[in-house]
Amino acid sequence: MQSAQKQGLFLTFEGLDGSGKTTQLRLLGEFLDSWNLPWISVRQPGGTSIGDKIRALLLDSKSAGMAPMTELAMMFADRAQVIQEIIAPALAAGKIVVCDRFTDSTEAYQGGGRQLGSEIVLDLHSRLCGNLQPDLTILLLPPIEKSLARARRRNTTTQAQTGRDEGRFEAEQDAFFRRVEAKFREIAHREHFRVESLDGDLHISEVAARIQKRVELLLREKGHLSQGN
Ligand code: TMP
Repeated sequence: MQSAQKQGLFLTFEGLDGSGKTTQLRLLGEFLDSWNLPWISVRQPGGTSIGDKIRALLLDSKSAGMAPMTELAMMFADRAQVIQEIIAPALAAGKIVVCDRFTDSTEAYQGGGRQLGSEIVLDLHSRLCGNLQPDLTILLLPPIEKSLARARRRNTTTQAQTGRDEGRFEAEQDAFFRRVEAKFREIAHREHFRVESLDGDLHISEVAARIQKRVELLLREKGHLSQGN
C-alpha cells in the first residue's frame, strides 16, 4: 500500500496492560474537545469490523495454542486494515488521530515478549503499513506490579459482566511482561524524539498535565492551534 499522506496529526498511546492508557486517552479527548479540534480515536487490535473479529481471536484465552508468528501476522493484518479504513483517510482530512496502541506494541509484545526480535516487526511495518510513523507517542510506564494487578483485576470483572474473554495476554507470566517493558524502554531510547515516556508512580492528574503540555506544544508547532487560541 501507499504510505499515508500526513496532513493531520497522529498520536499513539503505549504501555503495559493496566498502565492507565484508557483513563489518559479519555482525559486527552476532553482536552482536545476543549479546543474544539477535530479528532478521532481508534484502538488496536480492533477499531474496524474486520479488526474486531481479529481482536476476539487474538485475545480469547481459548486461542492459547496460537503460534507467535501467527500472532504477529494477525496484529499486522489488523493494523493494515485500520490504517486503510480509518487512520489514513482521517489524517488526509487533516484530523487528529489518537490511537490506543500501534506498532510499538507489536515490537514490545511480539518482538520482546514473544522474543521474535525487532527486525521482523519493523520490516513488516514498512512493507504492510507504509512505515506510517506517529508524530508523538505517549508511553506510560508506572511500576510493573501495579499495572499487572490492575489489568488482571479488570479482565476478571469484564468477563464476569460481559462474558467477553480478553485474558490471553494477562495470563502470561511476569517474565513475559518484563521483556515487554524492557523492549518499550529500548524503543523510547531509540526513538527519543517521538516517544515521551512517563515513568514511575505518578498521580493521574500529573500524567494528564504532562501529556497535555506536550500535545499542546505539538499542536502549535503543526499549526493546529494558532497564536490566538
Ligand atoms: P488492550 O487491552 O490495550 O486493548 O490490548 C490488547 C492486548 O493485545 C494487550 O495485552 C497487548 C496486546 N497487543 C500485542 O500483543 N501486540 C500488538 O501489536 C497490539 C496492538 C496489542
